[in-house]
Amino acid sequence: MDKKLYATHMATLRQRYDSILEETGFDTLNVLSGRPKVQFLDDNYYPFRVNPQFKALVPVTDNPHSWVIYRRGQKPKLLFYRPVDFWHYVPPAPQTFWSDEYEIELLSKPDEAKQFLDASNAAFIGETDGVEDWSIGTANPEELLARLHWARAYKTPYEMTCLREANRIAVRAHRAAVAAFRDGASEFEINLAYLNAAGQGENQMPYGNIVGLNEHAAILHYTHLSTERLPEAERRSFLIDAGADCNGFCADITRSYAYRDGEYAELVAAMHEKEQELVAGLKPGVPYPDLHRDCHQKIGELLEQFGVIKCSAGAAAESGLTATFMPHGLGHFLGLQVHDVGGHQSAPEGGTTPPPEKYPFLRTTRIVEANQVFTIEPGLYFIDSLLGDLKDTGLAAEVHWDKVEELRPFGGVRIEDNVVVHEDRVENMTRDCYGE
Ligand code: GLY
Ligand code: MN
Ligand code: MN
Repeated sequence: MDKKLYATHMATLRQRYDSILEETGFDTLNVLSGRPKVQFLDDNYYPFRVNPQFKALVPVTDNPHSWVIYRRGQKPKLLFYRPVDFWHYVPPAPQTFWSDEYEIELLSKPDEAKQFLDASNAAFIGETDGVEDWSIGTANPEELLARLHWARAYKTPYEMTCLREANRIAVRAHRAAVAAFRDGASEFEINLAYLNAAGQGENQMPYGNIVGLNEHAAILHYTHLSTERLPEAERRSFLIDAGADCNGFCADITRSYAYRDGEYAELVAAMHEKEQELVAGLKPGVPYPDLHRDCHQKIGELLEQFGVIKCSAGAAAESGLTATFMPHGLGHFLGLQVHDVGGHQSAPEGGTTPPPEKYPFLRTTRIVEANQVFTIEPGLYFIDSLLGDLKDTGLAAEVHWDKVEELRPFGGVRIEDNVVVHEDRVENMTRDCYGE
């Protein structure tokens, strides 16, 4: 990573943090990376997941007991934890593209942080467990957090570079995964092929990989990873929703594949078209919920085209029939967290705009602006429980149930890309990596 790019990023961050601290009346911000959590009645730890507000300040994702002390107008201090057991075996200080931007102090014990902390006019961001009695300042003040979350929606050039690189890693891994699918691998084996190609372990993934064959593609958060290898005649469809990490930034990509030609393959191709039309609609000034409504119209068009419904696309979107087939939102902010913060926020200082009543799972109600990064992820699924519910309503008469039965064994289809909105264009980071 380019040092200059990072230095420019830090200059922007420091301006943001300085004005946010001033607006909220604090001089100092103490941010803890996190502390390891031991499992109940055990001496093993849960995988460490860093405080996102820590990795927002420094690209360190794997080091508990570390702190950033940010004093308004000053170079931030990083208290970098190096356990005493390993003291003689590790480099004394990080020496990398970001390290010049911090005053770095090494801690050999977690408690050594206390001498650097000062509670006067300070705010603390992090989990308070184990540090409640320390001089950390006001814990997680609401307005300060709201302002920091709001700012995170506008990505700096360094952050966009990280997101592009996360996409590059994920696309390489997606290619390995589909090759494994075509070779007849089990879901478990496909996931191993993915992780191996990404060069990242499952605890580094931004979320649990979704790797579903056939009907499993209809389970929205399917992370079971069956070890069963399907005989060739039983291989029908494959949905993979998996990301990658770059300096704490996430990719979140979904592809669906047909094993052989036929109607499901045509549905996948048609979904690619619809998805790209929706990506093209991401423009500064557009309310994201409007795009979600457009998406339901397009899902209606697919249902009509493939003979699943008797009514028109518009009528299906209007009546809510399309929601049986696409129950989730069109997409979300993407950044340091896969569902990045602030999607429902209505102003920098706080307040939320809830999703429309009709679409309770929509994660984004903001007006689209330049430098924001979103996923666009339309889907169409045959989900037993939702189809069962539909059968009990008046809308059941609008459905060709024999067609539903034909497509149900394929589970569903979702196509998900990661997109940067610029003033004058949208950048599809995912398709750029595929060379499309
Ligand atoms: N992988 C989770 C999502 O697409 O939102
Ligand atoms: Mn996803
Ligand atoms: Mn997503």
